[in-house]
Amino acid sequence: MEWRRTHFCGVVTEELAGQEVTLNGWVNRRRDLGGMIFVDLRDRFGLIQIVFDPSNLSEEVFAQAEQLRSEFVIAVQGLVQLRPEGQANPHLPTGKVEVHARNLTILSQAKTPPFEIERAEAVDESLRLKYRYLHLRSRELQDAIALRHGVMQEARNFLNKHHFLEIETPLLIRSTPEGARDFIVPSRVHPGEFYALPQSPQMFKQLLMISGFDRYYQMARCFRDEDLRADRQPEFTQIDVEMSFVEREDVMSLMEEMILHIIEKIKGITINGPVPRMTYDEAIRRFGSDKPDTRFGLELVDLTDLLQGSGFRVFSSTISQGGAIRGLNGETCGNFTRREIDELADKAEQWGAKGLIWMAVEEDKVRSPIAKFLTEEELQAIVGRLQGKPGDLLLIVADEYKLASEVLGRLRLLLAERLGLIPEGRYDLLWVVDWPLLEYDEEAGRYVAAHHPFTAPVDEDLALLESDPGRVRAKAYDLVMNGVELGGGSIRIANRATQEKMFKALGMSMEEAAAQFGYFMEAFEYGAPPHGGIAFGFDRLVMLLSGRDSIRDVIAFPKTVSARDLMIDAPAPVSAGQLNELKIKMQD
Ligand code: AMO
Ligand code: AMP
Repeated sequence: MEWRRTHFCGVVTEELAGQEVTLNGWVNRRRDLGGMIFVDLRDRFGLIQIVFDPSNLSEEVFAQAEQLRSEFVIAVQGLVQLRPEGQANPHLPTGKVEVHARNLTILSQAKTPPFEIERAEAVDESLRLKYRYLHLRSRELQDAIALRHGVMQEARNFLNKHHFLEIETPLLIRSTPEGARDFIVPSRVHPGEFYALPQSPQMFKQLLMISGFDRYYQMARCFRDEDLRADRQPEFTQIDVEMSFVEREDVMSLMEEMILHIIEKIKGITINGPVPRMTYDEAIRRFGSDKPDTRFGLELVDLTDLLQGSGFRVFSSTISQGGAIRGLNGETCGNFTRREIDELADKAEQWGAKGLIWMAVEEDKVRSPIAKFLTEEELQAIVGRLQGKPGDLLLIVADEYKLASEVLGRLRLLLAERLGLIPEGRYDLLWVVDWPLLEYDEEAGRYVAAHHPFTAPVDEDLALLESDPGRVRAKAYDLVMNGVELGGGSIRIANRATQEKMFKALGMSMEEAAAQFGYFMEAFEYGAPPHGGIAFGFDRLVMLLSGRDSIRDVIAFPKTVSARDLMIDAPAPVSAGQLNELKIKMQD
């Protein structure tokens, strides 16, 4: 039998009724009914029902059909016919027809898979990851990977139309301080020396601007040795962009146009720009997060001014130390049990709060373990500011302003989920702007870059870089979608003097800066255009557009949260010979 297909399985519809077709694919399921064998045949494009009817088949072919099991790879030749009256399957595009087999070739047998492809989501994730190539056969992952492809092509289409060049940059580079931990690669030719895998192509894309390419992009693979979460992988992909002769507005307006274009093309949803803007300070104040989910309310409020002079120790000591008292109205949560409230308090403490104060607003009183420490006026002022109504649960944290805000910000998300306040199918975009340039790192005992050390300070704040570094704002912007940081970028420093000042603010000596970044700063001395750019977390974008909550679901071969590839079993030891060649000795 000529086994090569004439059609894909998923496209066999009533238009082909009466035609002979040859189909190739996997046996999704076999059922024996009334002496006949029914097979759902699957390929990338869908499923089609095949009927093996002994009354119009050779005995030999029917005997072969009896051997079929799930995941066998077969070729079937047969006649497309309308299904009998009342037997159409409205859930399948091919559901009105079936193929009456005449001939069958088994191209590959299959062992019983460790899980049913259609039920993969129900088994342990480690088993799914070990047999990732089987899980990838599922409709969900086939769709997610196809969507990923679509998003990538739409990004490319958009950028190509706007005169960007796609340029690759090296993967073996040098390790630099700042940022996350590098993955390092030993050099055999230069024993004792190491390459690093790039955390992003940041300096290369800036150098491409200095080289005069004007507009660059790359679907860039990035590597970061950091603690992983649902939206973090040790290697991930960025839509990495850089532009010359631009200001913040130019980058932001073109890039939001790109994201809106992608959403429109991929989801068919038209979102009218411009995307709203919010300063970093406002985001922390109202939402306790630098990536606020703006799909629902539950905003934070400040209570500090109401509680000046309070007799309650937690409030008075917080205020005297310059801290803040911040609150959140957990609307309708007044009926939470003691246990549920304790769970919230445990979370708050895990996130760094010293405690969580709660007040249940009732018709005629406020029920709270701290009610007895507060005056009636203070209680009423708190309830008033938080607009507490009977049935609400007010949550209060007293601490350093940013910490109190962040803890409440996380409680806000938790409550919104519990209360079902997060609307489905909506894409809320928001630019967060006016970031601080530097953040003080208690552990390191110095300032670190809030984004990266190449971010330009706001012009008016330049003078503060030496006198009051913590107050300098950056020409940086993050694009947030549904509470996820989708991308971040900035206008860059484009001259040596400012770059040197920046390294100094980061506690680097000029010698250290020259040793690490000398080539880069020198490049600024040969004519550097004003430039800026952004990078989007491509995996995160695909995750959001496919309605998933882990980027693992949209990466063909992802790693576990402990950075392991369970399929190829990496990382893995290397041979003594390989280590010898690299002049590397393991510590005992
Ligand atoms: P940044 O470090 O903010 O900026 O990264 C840009 C975007 O990449 C995504 N991202 C990640 N996605 C998955 N796993 C990770 N471990 C991970 N880390 C980051 C996020 C983030 O917004 N060079 C700069 C960009 C620039 O200034 O142009 C950079 O890399 O969605
Ligand atoms: P204490 O007097 O330390 O037992 O605290 C009384 C209540 O206030 C307890 O419910 C604590 O969880 C809570 N609490 C203590 N410190 C803070 C704080 N900084 N912010 C919010 N609640 C706190």
